Amino acid sequence: MADYRFIRACFRQKVDRTPIWIMRQAGRYMPEYRAVREKTEFLELCKTPELAAKVTLQPIDKLNVDAAILFSDILTLPEAMGIDLKFGKGMGPQLSPVIRSRSDIDRLKEIDPESSLSFVMQTIRILRRELEGRVPLIGFSGAPFTLATYMVEGGSSKDFLNLKTMMYKNPKTAHALFAKLSDAVTAYLNAQIAAGAQAVQIFDTWAGICSPIDFDAFVFPYVKSVVDRLNRNGVPVIYYCNGGSTLLSRMRKLNTDVIGVDWRIEIDVAWKEIGYDRAIQGNLDPCVLFMDRKGIEERVRDILKRAGGRPGHIFNLGHGVLPTTPVENVQALVEIVHELSREDRA
Ligand code: CP3
Repeated sequence: MADYRFIRACFRQKVDRTPIWIMRQAGRYMPEYRAVREKTEFLELCKTPELAAKVTLQPIDKLNVDAAILFSDILTLPEAMGIDLKFGKGMGPQLSPVIRSRSDIDRLKEIDPESSLSFVMQTIRILRRELEGRVPLIGFSGAPFTLATYMVEGGSSKDFLNLKTMMYKNPKTAHALFAKLSDAVTAYLNAQIAAGAQAVQIFDTWAGICSPIDFDAFVFPYVKSVVDRLNRNGVPVIYYCNGGSTLLSRMRKLNTDVIGVDWRIEIDVAWKEIGYDRAIQGNLDPCVLFMDRKGIEERVRDILKRAGGRPGHIFNLGHGVLPTTPVENVQALVEIVHELSREDRA
């Protein structure tokens, strides 16, 4: 693989400046994205490879970030397993029928990514051609637990009561669901790697709602089973868990190259806990992008100082960029990270 700053940092190799990419870097905060969305529904956009590739490239051209992330959604995987998916206006994702019983799980289809998710593989192939020599392409999937939250609750949730009730009352059913999802996620990510993804990120957006005892029983084994079955071949693997700062000593037992952390913990404290034999990604609060340039710079300086110029830091937000973020502040963030981290090394 070409000598990309982002890939080098994933493997804790020396870089000229700290690489940065931004979760949800293609999205509504960009006028170019909104222009495409005016004519195309979100899911149709995900399923039209030429358009999905086009919006993937928008932040590369506009922001000068060090990696591209495939434009898609974690919920196209449950859809490929036979669940009906809709994004209602202002309502977030809606999935039906909800998964509650063993027979619901048995009805979920095993996926063949090259057929039921061929649009994703096609998008990756287009992007590899378009990006060659510029920046590497990150593929992704939701983690089994996070996907299960949407499938059992039928959409977003506050307390995740239906999934937790399943875990507590019918643990065998919950385990069967997580196991089936872990097979699907493994097949999906391996297909993305085969199609050309140069890194993969596993998004566990909701695993942070678990107590440590539940994380150990219902989250960890299924992420581990995905990570251990990936055909990595030089492709770095990132595990990102939102709200996971109290679970880092557990996450470090996953055999990933990188752990992504949110802003609720100082990055130096997090890094010490996961160990310096692992790269770390993060961790600016997305709301800091609503400060002025000086404010943003102060917060970036603090994170870079805490990361200490040690090889293996990838700058990112602690969660996705918010739709109302001023785009010039996102551009400023990338400039600031590149500038300050170069000074750091000089
Ligand atoms: O990071 C990127 O730029 C790549 C694209 C990407 C999207 N979703 C595009 C998207 C990625 C990596 C995701 C992952 C995703 N999707 C996650 C995990 C990461 C996270 O943010 O926690 C989750 C939980 C989802 C599910 C999902 N998709 C939600 C809750 C929503 C918001 C619904 C809404 O109305 O805001 C989406 C929609 C979505 N996914 C959008 C984008 C750009 C907005 C769709 C639009 O244009 O209206």
